[in-house]
Amino acid sequence: MTISFTADLPQDVVADWLLILVSSLGDPAQRFQDIDQQIAGMISGVMRRTDFEAGELEILPLYQTAGIRATNILLVGCGDAANLRKAGIRKSLLAGFRRITTKQKQTVAVCFDSEISSRISENVLTEIVADSVVAAPIDAGVCRKEQKHFALGDVVLCGFESGSSLSASANRGQTIAAAVNLAKELVNRPANEIYPETFCDRIAGLAGAAGIRCDIYDEPMLRRERMGAMLAVAQGSDRSARMLALHVRAGGDSVPTIALVGKGVTFDSGGYSLKPNDSMLTMKCDMAGAATCVAVGLAAAQLRIPVNLSVYVGLVENMVSGRAFKLGDVVTARNGTTIEIQNTDAEGRLVLADVLNFAVDSGASQIIDLATLTGACVVALGEDVAGLFCNTPDLANSLLNSADAEGEALWQLPLYRQYDELLKSDVADVRNIGGRWAGAITAARFLQKFVGDTPWAHLDIAGPAFATGSTSWRDSGATGCFVRSLLYWLEEKAAGNGREAQPG
Ligand code: BES
Ligand code: MN
Ligand code: ZN
Repeated sequence: MTISFTADLPQDVVADWLLILVSSLGDPAQRFQDIDQQIAGMISGVMRRTDFEAGELEILPLYQTAGIRATNILLVGCGDAANLRKAGIRKSLLAGFRRITTKQKQTVAVCFDSEISSRISENVLTEIVADSVVAAPIDAGVCRKEQKHFALGDVVLCGFESGSSLSASANRGQTIAAAVNLAKELVNRPANEIYPETFCDRIAGLAGAAGIRCDIYDEPMLRRERMGAMLAVAQGSDRSARMLALHVRAGGDSVPTIALVGKGVTFDSGGYSLKPNDSMLTMKCDMAGAATCVAVGLAAAQLRIPVNLSVYVGLVENMVSGRAFKLGDVVTARNGTTIEIQNTDAEGRLVLADVLNFAVDSGASQIIDLATLTGACVVALGEDVAGLFCNTPDLANSLLNSADAEGEALWQLPLYRQYDELLKSDVADVRNIGGRWAGAITAARFLQKFVGDTPWAHLDIAGPAFATGSTSWRDSGATGCFVRSLLYWLEEKAAGNGREAQPG
């Protein structure tokens, strides 16, 4: 698949499909005058006579349209042009492209109505098209012999003058979507394929090919690091634990290092606090935090974002066996804190405790962790919204702003200090569960004990990481959530570094 640009009119481009992005603002007959005239007023006629109103995600295929050189037309609505946002356009385009990808290698010419092209720059439109072209065909069925969606053939943007800046935007969009796709694939692959060792093999391969430093810590090394909390979770599994670190240093020596930390429980059975069947069914998704972090790290390097970034992911499988950790066990975390295990299903915080502490000791100036941490967060915010916990208001606001820019729902919840009472243990420094209530908050308060004063944000993505049902713009299963928001955040951060470095 290539993305190219042509100054030709949309009606003159040969393709399987002419995709027209249509807003609901203004007189349709005027907005695509040329094409509309060529096909005898078909578009304006359809918009008058049918219930197609060009709202967000509305789609109308017109087959075998005579008068233009493309075989079919796909009208894709995106709502009111006066309120257009990048994420809304992307969602509509995803739905449109996804519709087309049910057949192999379809070629597409893309054009926009004049209300859209007069408001959004060619570079932004190019990036969003490139992103959605690459992201659209991805399905949860990574193990199927026959795929249900296929990569598109060549895509051409009509009315765009080709040049290096548009090509750069196209590359950017493709790189970002490829990162989302990688995060989704790692999550969608079952736990018999992706476990700590194979996760590391895969990422080390990608990092090596891209010239990115990747360090893998095996169990003896983790024992030497005294990561007793993480190792307690892993000890019931025949698959040994790993910690993987990626180091991207594109920011220069005077710029501090940001750390991304991910929960990588490649399967969460619950351990002896065993999950019931229906809750365990989707627990291959419990490494989504780790998948997002490594995808962001690799893409940040490819996009040459001028930041210093370290990614740390803790990879374990939470299983039952004669060697598994048990209720009442007391384990010692890397920072010396003793933890009484009262529920082996509260394992994510044990993994993160040690990895967060490792990130702190590595000297990170800011830490962001991502984890499918609590069902309680899903109860509070639902399947679409992630919970944000943060000890530094500026960091929280910048993350909320980035998520908003990329159309990913994120809502801040309080790190309410008094709930530390709920984490008290009679026999150790702390226990690994709170009580019945505020489970997302007590989990976050637990994590906070391991970050000290370092500016830190925790994203509980248990809801949005894995979707129960499919929609017109994406399949069910892994969503790759927060890959786009974090890349946006890193770019903002890099721009800020530049500003701070400027004298005066
Ligand atoms: N991995 C789960 C959280 C989860 C739930 C992720 C639903 C995705 C969807 C986590 O390890 C877990 O089991 N949390 C427990 C904590 C409890 C035992 C304190 C939970 O939420 O029930
Ligand atoms: Mn669990
Ligand atoms: Zn878990």
